[in-house]
Amino acid sequence: MSLPFDGAISRFLAEDAPHHVRAALDGAGTKEIVTPGYPYDRWMAKADYECELSALQLELVKLQHWVRRSGTRLVILFEGRDTAGKGGAISRFTLNLNPRVARIEALDKPSEDEARQWFFQRYIERLPQAGRMALFDRSWYNRGVLEPVFGFCTEAERARFFVQLPAVEQMLIDEGMHLVKLWLEIGQAEQLRRMLARERDPLKQWKLSAIDVEGLHKWHAYSAAITDTLARSDFGFAPWTVILADDKHRARLAVIRKVLSSVAYHGRDDALVGVPDPAICGGPELRLG
Ligand code: ADP
Ligand code: MLT
Repeated sequence: MSLPFDGAISRFLAEDAPHHVRAALDGAGTKEIVTPGYPYDRWMAKADYECELSALQLELVKLQHWVRRSGTRLVILFEGRDTAGKGGAISRFTLNLNPRVARIEALDKPSEDEARQWFFQRYIERLPQAGRMALFDRSWYNRGVLEPVFGFCTEAERARFFVQLPAVEQMLIDEGMHLVKLWLEIGQAEQLRRMLARERDPLKQWKLSAIDVEGLHKWHAYSAAITDTLARSDFGFAPWTVILADDKHRARLAVIRKVLSSVAYHGRDDALVGVPDPAICGGPELRLG
């Protein structure tokens, strides 16, 4: 099978990766955390993770039941750098849920018609009706981070986005929607390690896009756009939750706990749900490096 980006990731590692990134990956074990400053050295053990995950799955089913019964509209934004694990977190979240109740919205690049609409329009159209939840795999925050980094929007368009953003999110809240904004953060060496794994694995190659490959060269531009975006959109009525996601296991549990603990659904087992691990979950101040 021919690969769309034959060897591009390995080539980046060999030729362009910063020295500290290469050094971090050199000889690192697969479950070892390679990001400096990460609060854990190793991934959470799989057996512990699976045990906690299956207990939380039952809580998610209760949440789904309550969302339907109460006519709640729940919106969860999954944001983060390429390979941070948005897709993986969403699939664990929705594993036992009804796809009609918990819809995944992963919008492609805007079509010609969509590009002629108000920027927020196609997202607004996909907001959930009463009794439903929508999980956005990337969101309107593309205009804060990804679009300017790749030149897909103008400075003026980005500025207009930030002017309109607080009013748009405030309207969702005023409409009674529950809005949870999750930012999954990973370190540069971990990102490269995940892309190398995708390059090697025929089951994962589809996850690599031109954006991912080009994005490797744009780490610092991303960092600046992320810092700016989180600072300008961490509203009291719609705050960000940042999750340090180098450890996928802990990150997925934190994602689920964050959502469960922020919705007061009927029958919640508070002792089980607890709070997301504060070592890897906080506000925009939590980001490493
Ligand atoms: P993934 O979400 O799986 O990482 P991609 O890396 O292919 O998907 O794309 C990343 C994001 O960039 C997607 O949300 C996509 O809609 C957006 N995107 C890609 N091309 C454009 C473009 N020309 N204009 C605006 N957004 C784009
Ligand atoms: C992720 O892993 O964060 C998402 O699936 C998006 C990507 O392909 O990077």
